[in-house]
Amino acid sequence: MTSRNTVPSFEVETTSAPISDADRERALEQPGFGTQFTDHMITIDWSEEQGWHAARVQPFGPLPILPGASALQYGQQGFEGIKAYRHADGSVWTFRPERNAARLRATAERFYLIAPDDALFVESLRSLVAVDHEWVPQPDGEKSLYLRPFIIGTEQFLGVRPSKTVTFGLIAGPSGIYVGGLGNPVNVWLSEEHVRATIGGTGEAKCGGNYAAGLGAHAEAKTNGCQQTLFLDAETRTYVEEFTSMNVLFVTSDGHLVTPDLSGTILHGITRASLLQIAAEDLGMTVEERRVSVTEWRERVADGSFSEVFACGTAAVITPIGTLKARNFDIPPARHTGGEVTQALKERLTGIQYGHIEDTRGWMVKLRD
Ligand SMILES: Cc1ncc(COP(=O)(O)O)c(C=O)c1O
Repeated sequence: MTSRNTVPSFEVETTSAPISDADRERALEQPGFGTQFTDHMITIDWSEEQGWHAARVQPFGPLPILPGASALQYGQQGFEGIKAYRHADGSVWTFRPERNAARLRATAERFYLIAPDDALFVESLRSLVAVDHEWVPQPDGEKSLYLRPFIIGTEQFLGVRPSKTVTFGLIAGPSGIYVGGLGNPVNVWLSEEHVRATIGGTGEAKCGGNYAAGLGAHAEAKTNGCQQTLFLDAETRTYVEEFTSMNVLFVTSDGHLVTPDLSGTILHGITRASLLQIAAEDLGMTVEERRVSVTEWRERVADGSFSEVFACGTAAVITPIGTLKARNFDIPPARHTGGEVTQALKERLTGIQYGHIEDTRGWMVKLRD
């Protein structure tokens, strides 16, 4: 699909029934993750004839969608996850939004949808933060405003073909630590039956179906006392790919940072890419993007040469991995779980995001003064 990329002006309808100051303060105090939403949302419609149009900031609430819409019937949709961070001077910033915009367009391409260009994507973040800035938490305890852009095919028909109309939406909610935390390693379950992605499939796309397909394994993980699932490659069931919603990284005792390469089945994590760059440029580490087998994980934790194992993503930031549990074996936590390198990487990344460390790479984009 082709897109007409003029940035439409946003019509703004503010809510007549905002959440009370006291309830908002309570939400900001203990944001959790993904359960509380701000007062407003954005929708922008797209059609072949009109391009992007009807850009609206409006009260948060149900979306009008026809029951036969392609998003509901055939899963023609995609989404993103990005955060807004408050700095000490009160200004609000976001991190590498052009990367999220590009990934949403890549997802759109995979599903024959359409997604905004960088300018419209960032303008939508700005427009929502403009009305809901009081929902951006003070930066204590790593709080932020989690923003969820999404695209849905809205045309109603039951023949399988791409929708001729699309809606881009943006909702947001305050967020705290998603899972784990430096002193709280996450135990993970090895999915031996279900895979997440295969070459030529949709693993690189950020689409709801990938997550829905992982929910069976997630239930298994929960039953086994784990919070996340680790998926293996579909062909050999040997190599580590990624977790439910995070990429995986290994620190070696001789200063290497090892992570599965982007082989066509793994989400191109923006946190992953940023950490690899920080590790190489700021910490002088050697970065290895290559296949890592479960056997290598097991043997190198046992001999101490994998000294730290951690996961990363926008929601989780960085969290150490504890035990990997499988049907017939466990891999215990690495010797220095949550150790020096995990901490240094987290400090540098969040330092840039919250404005304590100078952003020398132009990663931060201001959303509000
Ligand atoms: C499957 C999966 N892998 C990795 C990530 C991490 O990506 P990012 O760092 O861009 O948030 C996410 C989160 O979006 C994810 O859902």
